[in-house]
Amino acid sequence: MGTVWLLMQASLGFALAVAVVRVFTFVSELWQIRSYMRRLQKSGKPVPPHSLVMGHLLQAKAASEELPPGAHSAYVTNRLATKLNAEAYYFDPWPVADPLLVVTDYRLASQATNHEWTGSVKPPMLSRWFAPISGRGGVNLFTQNGAEWRREHEIFLPFFNNANLDATLPAVIGEMLIFRDILRQKTQQKDIMLLEPLTLNLMNDVIGRVIFNAELKNQTSGSHPLSKAMLRQLGLKFTENDVVQSLGNLNPLRSLEIWYNGRVLNQKIRAQIKRRAAAFQATKRSGDHFSSSAMLDRVLANYFSEPGHLHLTSVDEKFLTMLCAQLRMFFFAGYDSTSSTMISLCYLIWKHPEVLAKVRAEHDEVLGRNTEACPGKIVENPSILNSLHYTTAAIKESMRLLPAAAGARCGCKDLVLKGSDGMEYPTEGISVQMNHVAIMRNPATWPRPLEFLPKRFLVGPEHELYPPKGAWRIFELGVRNCTGQAFVMKELRVFLALVAREFDFKECYDEVYSEQKVDLTHVFNEKAFLTESGSAHPRGKFPCRVSLSGYTSASS
Ligand code: HEM
Ligand SMILES: *[C@@H]1O[C@H](CO)[C@@H](O)[C@H](O)[C@H]1NC(C)=O
Ligand SMILES: *[C@@H]1O[C@H](CO)[C@@H](O)[C@H](O)[C@H]1NC(C)=O
Repeated sequence: MGTVWLLMQASLGFALAVAVVRVFTFVSELWQIRSYMRRLQKSGKPVPPHSLVMGHLLQAKAASEELPPGAHSAYVTNRLATKLNAEAYYFDPWPVADPLLVVTDYRLASQATNHEWTGSVKPPMLSRWFAPISGRGGVNLFTQNGAEWRREHEIFLPFFNNANLDATLPAVIGEMLIFRDILRQKTQQKDIMLLEPLTLNLMNDVIGRVIFNAELKNQTSGSHPLSKAMLRQLGLKFTENDVVQSLGNLNPLRSLEIWYNGRVLNQKIRAQIKRRAAAFQATKRSGDHFSSSAMLDRVLANYFSEPGHLHLTSVDEKFLTMLCAQLRMFFFAGYDSTSSTMISLCYLIWKHPEVLAKVRAEHDEVLGRNTEACPGKIVENPSILNSLHYTTAAIKESMRLLPAAAGARCGCKDLVLKGSDGMEYPTEGISVQMNHVAIMRNPATWPRPLEFLPKRFLVGPEHELYPPKGAWRIFELGVRNCTGQAFVMKELRVFLALVAREFDFKECYDEVYSEQKVDLTHVFNEKAFLTESGSAHPRGKFPCRVSLSGYTSASS
């Protein structure tokens, strides 16, 4: 009895001590951040009204109440910048995230991304965000730094070279033709439909083919275990869509579920890696050449061809762990934001008939008027996509108005950003956040900022619409820019080439949201404003009617 009693007392004492230490670190962290904010405020830097206990959470809440429900946090932080009339300001969302310098002007963003140290360093809090997505504590190409980033970045680069990306196009186009068939069926019905589930399924299958060399078949016959586990994981992470609600991530049951599903996901991905490694070994034994453009296959072929690895018949555990985490990240990076951008295209281009007409005319001219022959033409000569100048400009303009992502860098003592009014912004201990919504609608940079004018990207420097270098930064710039950008631009041009002439998309927001009168002023009167869901997604999965345009039959 005595020992049990002693043990109970000891463990109680231990638990108490742990709790005291936790509370102490929590309070001291809070105190440090809060007094830092006070100092910045006192020295005249732009800081929204700050509360000792709540930091900026109340400010964020007030700003989000001026926005329609579900609006993305980028609009919230943009709204606070507008209220302060500042190019950049300090924002303290602790304990939701570390303190930020929110940047709304490309010139300050460029100072950060061009800086010798900061330009290549991602803030540590990103790993926390990515942990459920990639596993491995959130360590992946997005979040890694220094030598480790360089080493692992190199491993994946061969996939992204232009010739290899072109070699993926038959698979990409194959999936897009399935998407086109599904759309054709949808034109038979007059009801409102949601487009986003279809583009997500499409991108799911594209990623399956080009990353994993797997047929996930989510467009046609349900879910492959691999994508099911991945989508479940993303679903667990992204159920919250509010800055304040994201505190819900502290829910221990949710964490347990994420941990468990993460294990299932790893099993599925490891199984696929092992399958492809075995396929490589079998090809090697038979003396054939292992040719595949899929990322996983390229990585494995290189791995087994390294001088020290020639004797290996399977992947070693360390490499397997690394590959598994990176592939999980690539699944997410490759799928979510591209699908979201496809929706932005269907919303913005079809909202502007004059732009749509020019896109279609360019497709006739470059790809020929026979739309049935178009996919084959692209496969045969992928560089034909480079001649779609107007289409590319329309894509860039859509991305400008509805950017799916944002940028973040780790500030440092040596980096003090300089505003156009001479204001100095120290960045030590702060994450510099490039707010793409704000930067790419900034009236100081963009003439007629809210208008949809693809022409901006076609005119020369003498034209008033010509954007300055570094202003359009949808994929961010500098050393840590988006690895997938060339691939994205190919996919989106193919997407438009296959759907723009045949279909019409008519958004139906007013019908679907007729009950809910919302004020769209601070989301720039955009009915398909961005909402929080992984990468930023146009609102409400894009309710629309899709019909046959009649353009193709008229032209062929
Ligand atoms: C419309 C689609 C996409 C957008 C808007 C986008 C945007 C971005 C942005 C803004 C960054 C830089 C983040 C920062 O500076 O903090 C980034 C990084 C990255 N993106 Fe994308 N991305 C897209 C699609 C893709 C695709 C399809 C892939 C791969 C298949 C990809 C892979 C990556 C990777 C690996 C990084 C990390 C690069 C590094 O830090 O070294 N992205 N992306
Ligand atoms: C694709 O996957 C999602 C998520 O698992 C699922 O809801 C959907 O039904 C799947 N598609 C088809 C055609 O079954
Ligand atoms: C993008 O990043 C790569 C890899 O670090 C770099 O070589 C390239 O110059 C960067 N491009 C731009 C436009 O910043």
